[in-house]
Amino acid sequence: MILSIESSCDDSSIAVTEIETKKLLYHKKISQETEHACYGGVVPELASRLHAVALPKILEETKPYFDQLKAVAVTNQPGLGVTLLEGIAMAKTLATLQNVPLIPVHHLKGHIYSLFIEQETRFPMLILLISGGHTMVVRVESFEKMEILATSMDDSVGESFDKTAKMMGLGYPGGPIIEQLARKGDEDRFDLPVPLRNSKLIAFSLSGLKNAVRLVIEKLGGAEAMSEQDKCDLSASFQKAVKRHLLQKSKKIFKAEPIKDFAIVGGASANLYIRNAYEELCNEFGKTLHVAPLQYCSDNAAMIGRYAVDAYEKKAFAAPEEVDIIVTKKQQSGMLL
Ligand code: KG4
Ligand code: ZN
Repeated sequence: MILSIESSCDDSSIAVTEIETKKLLYHKKISQETEHACYGGVVPELASRLHAVALPKILEETKPYFDQLKAVAVTNQPGLGVTLLEGIAMAKTLATLQNVPLIPVHHLKGHIYSLFIEQETRFPMLILLISGGHTMVVRVESFEKMEILATSMDDSVGESFDKTAKMMGLGYPGGPIIEQLARKGDEDRFDLPVPLRNSKLIAFSLSGLKNAVRLVIEKLGGAEAMSEQDKCDLSASFQKAVKRHLLQKSKKIFKAEPIKDFAIVGGASANLYIRNAYEELCNEFGKTLHVAPLQYCSDNAAMIGRYAVDAYEKKAFAAPEEVDIIVTKKQQSGMLL
């Protein structure tokens, strides 16, 4: 079995996965959303302290599996330095005590493997990753070969939902709140710009849209002056602009990429409005849409464990002294490192 630990942002999570069957035997996650809500985003130092309490609590429950562990996996990049450190310290200690190898896991590759928690790996696949920290399209040919085809030049999709919600005084995380309000809103009331609409660039950009939302809020007299219906209408109009932007750039990629299987992963892939839009786009282009079960879209250790099973088979191990946080700049192109 492999024990996996995830602490790259504001979710403390541990999973145990059986190597031979790839079956998830244990999984628990403690989210910190309520603790960060009043700040409108994640406060790294607070997150770190909460991990230091939550992770040992969860680990206690996994003790019955300790004797059967063959490896310990841990997210080591990308993420918040101070929170990654909590998971890494625990993983190093456990691996040393149990005398088993360590498997460092790239968080974004973990999101890709969230698709395979309940099924076999399936490659090649084109993948749209939309999370709180990243937005990118990746061509995944194998465990080793994952190439970035497009990224966001500024904010990520999840971040744009979070900031839009914050500007309207709606709390954190913004994604589910905006999606909920949008169901009761008129998506045509506010004419928000679709980012990079007239650009040939195959890339994403969400900061301009965020500014357009800010201007609408100002025009309405500020968040306090907005009615419930105003907030629903703005949520719907914003979500529509995000959808149109994602679809427009995805269409260009679909035209150039013959791969039949397409997937959306990451926290924002839980958005049903976006999922439905991609279902239609995939039908139009003869592609098959894959998504992870809803509970594995946001950060979790089950996806880290599933990736680690494939890494174990390839003996992608590291000595404890080699595993450290890797704080990289956002990757714009090339292979997913
Ligand atoms: O993957 P994730 O849990 O963490 C990162 O790796 O960043 O993604 C969290 C992000 C947050 O920005 C959150 O607002 C967004 O995913 N999110 C959503 C929805 N549910 C979560 N965005 C849009 N619609 C949703 N239903
Ligand atoms: Zn994530």
